[in-house]
Amino acid sequence: MPDALLAVDGLSVAFPGAGGDVEVVRRLSFSVAPGEFVGLVGESGCGKSITALALLRLVPEPGRITAGRILLEGEDLLELAEPEMRRVRGRRIGMIFQEPMSALNPVLSVGFQIAEAVRVHHAVSRREAREEAVRLLDLVAIAAPRQRLKDYPHQLSGGQRQRVMIAIALAAKPDLVIADEPTTALDVTVQAQILELLEGLRQQLGLAVLLITHDLAVVAETCDRVVVMYAGQGVEEAPVEPLFAAPAHPYTRGLLAAVPTLGGAARGGDLPAIPGQVPEPASLPAGCAFHPRCADVMDECRQRQPEIYRVAERQTARCFLYEGPRPEASGS
Ligand SMILES: Nc1ncnc2c1ncn2[C@@H]1O[C@H](COP(=O)(O)OP(=O)(O)OP(=O)(O)O)[C@@H](O)[C@H]1O
Ligand SMILES: [Mg+2]
Repeated sequence: MPDALLAVDGLSVAFPGAGGDVEVVRRLSFSVAPGEFVGLVGESGCGKSITALALLRLVPEPGRITAGRILLEGEDLLELAEPEMRRVRGRRIGMIFQEPMSALNPVLSVGFQIAEAVRVHHAVSRREAREEAVRLLDLVAIAAPRQRLKDYPHQLSGGQRQRVMIAIALAAKPDLVIADEPTTALDVTVQAQILELLEGLRQQLGLAVLLITHDLAVVAETCDRVVVMYAGQGVEEAPVEPLFAAPAHPYTRGLLAAVPTLGGAARGGDLPAIPGQVPEPASLPAGCAFHPRCADVMDECRQRQPEIYRVAERQTARCFLYEGPRPEASGS
């Protein structure tokens, strides 16, 4: 994709295990265009957070990236020296985590922490950085921002703390923000406000967001495009509308059926949407990793691994249901 802001190409991440390397992200490819909101979804343990960390080259030791390219405006981040990579983190790619309390320093005022983030990335005086902190707090819709500067993290509500985290992520004026479950710890009303805030920032700043979540309702409201992950792989990719109207991969269908607000099983019946559990990365089933849980399993699913196949104009799925006469997608 030539006009991609971020293009992830065949990314693999592994941790050493008893019987050799265990891959937890497997040949993952997707892209994010400037100003685009892309959702990365999947059940717990499918590799979303490790992917986010890999994009910033922050995979925890002894894990490591074993294959692929991470192109930011065409430049492969995996080829940068560490000091250059440090400039990418924060400055060009901002990061928002699930738990703002653990990311904020409890003994420093939020004004100080935001101002520091400004000063790390831009050569400005302390006073200018402080003024910028006020502007950023205002940008993330914190009321009376000047008074809030002196507050410590524990004096703020969970939603306000997440806004402060977003202000810190925006301090360097990044083009892309990776948000890993940014609203999971918040109650539903505050969650909606934070998502609204991100949407507003897209309109104001042209910000692109990679939104990691296991909540498809959040994706439906916020994202342009969705990448569905299962057992470390991308299994479906599509714009939001076709993904929700006509999900292709049986895994995606199962996920959707589990969301009550989207008309899933929880509204009408009480069947568990997807029986079984996500496999451990060290003991993946043969063939398609999803086959033991799949409602549409066929013989070949137990024997071969599916590639990525084209389903529709902008929709692809890693599923044999779509193999055959259709032309293969180039994204694998
Ligand atoms: N430090 C580590 N050492 C070994 N394995 C790890 C490590 N961190 C994560 N993993 C494994 O990598 C896989 C992917 O984990 P990851 O945290 O990316 O999942 P996730 O999709 O973010 O899940 P969740 O929705 O629960 O946040 C899991 O099987 C996990 O056990
Ligand atoms: Mg995670």
